[in-house]
Amino acid sequence: MENNLLENLNPELKKTLKIIGKKADASKIRAFVVGGFVRDILLKKDNLDLDIVVEASAINFARHLLKLILGKLTIHNKFNTATLVSQKFRIDFTTARRETYAHPSALPDIYPGTIRDDLFRRDFTINAMAISLNQSSFGKLMDFFGGQKDLSQKKIRILHELSFADDPTRILRAIRFKERFNFVIEKRTAYLMKQALKSKALLLVKPPRIFDELIHILKEEKPAKYILSIKRICGFEFIDPRIKLDSFIIKLLKEAERQISWFQVDFAKKRKLDSWLIYFMILLNKVNIKTVYKIIHRFNLKRGDTKRIISCKNITNTERILNKKILKLSEIFKVLEPLSYEVILLIKIKSNSPLVRKRIITFFKILNGLKLATNGEDLKRLGLKQGKSLGLLLERLLHKKIDGLLKTKQAELSLIKQLIAK
Ligand code: CTP
Repeated sequence: MENNLLENLNPELKKTLKIIGKKADASKIRAFVVGGFVRDILLKKDNLDLDIVVEASAINFARHLLKLILGKLTIHNKFNTATLVSQKFRIDFTTARRETYAHPSALPDIYPGTIRDDLFRRDFTINAMAISLNQSSFGKLMDFFGGQKDLSQKKIRILHELSFADDPTRILRAIRFKERFNFVIEKRTAYLMKQALKSKALLLVKPPRIFDELIHILKEEKPAKYILSIKRICGFEFIDPRIKLDSFIIKLLKEAERQISWFQVDFAKKRKLDSWLIYFMILLNKVNIKTVYKIIHRFNLKRGDTKRIISCKNITNTERILNKKILKLSEIFKVLEPLSYEVILLIKIKSNSPLVRKRIITFFKILNGLKLATNGEDLKRLGLKQGKSLGLLLERLLHKKIDGLLKTKQAELSLIKQLIAK
């Protein structure tokens, strides 16, 4: 193994880590980069999220560093952590700590500790390694629990027997890393996971925490196989017992992967797609609206997400309209423009009708975001005041333009004048 694991890092990242190490030396403390970043270096995968652990106050350390690394510093006094976001990467600073749990799935009691303590409180051996940043040992791996061996043997292994009881969200994390890296869950770990599941550990976690883990999974690239793994290992009771994964939903999930890739290749510039929401909507496909509201309430979902989830329960009528033999372009626009991209894509995923699919493509390619050439200044010049009736008039105009009946700005303006005169 190389002695200096940070040797071949991209130069900017390496420079930043060197600055951190030098500052740690000057402050006479030890500093390490830890967790997923170390795992990904060993797997030769890019990762721009740096987790730094110092055996001292992380907040003071980060404050001092701000003079040396350009970025925006946010202090989280409650958690005694700090985050520095620079143009290229994000650096989280924490104080090395020891944790004890008063009872299963409680929030831990926290005490200052050594780097070993800090690594021991973590989820899996592959995520419990550190790399030293101090100058004399820059790039040296600290692997107390066999993380490197587990990485090479492709194993997910917890660090101690109470790991899943302490933090049941690790059950979902184990599934996530297993599927992301194509690893296996080591035997004893799998046994303890089963035990935790038997005692309904996932139901003890505060709902928003468990939902965060679910979102992490749904945000993975191609999450269908992760969802299948959830079905095999723990089922969906932790969201709602009524969620079932039958062959129809599995087919939709796979189709969603295809449609989302299509959208991201062709329309990436339009707006970032919340693809996780599409997968979540598919999971809710056979669940009635009352249960959907219950889930939204229990997990305290954000307003924007709630709105989109509810509207996906009303797409049958939209699909029926889009499937009409004869439909003007403006009519496609009218039904699709008010919907979110996630819901429109869901219609495309669910529909068996080539006509519906074709019309959705037309919407994304041509209609979405179309505007009149006439602008606010033009309307002012005509002496028109903003208001509901003007809004409706402009909407009518836009529909005409979409149907090819208004080709120039001149044509728009003369029609506006005509309609006002009426
Ligand atoms: N961690 C943990 N237990 C948890 C959550 C996090 O022990 N329930 C630790 C792990 O050491 C993990 C680190 O905190 O590596 C950072 O957490 P997170 O950013 O969620 O995970 P990453 O490993 O960085 O995964 P990803 O690549 O998905 O960002």
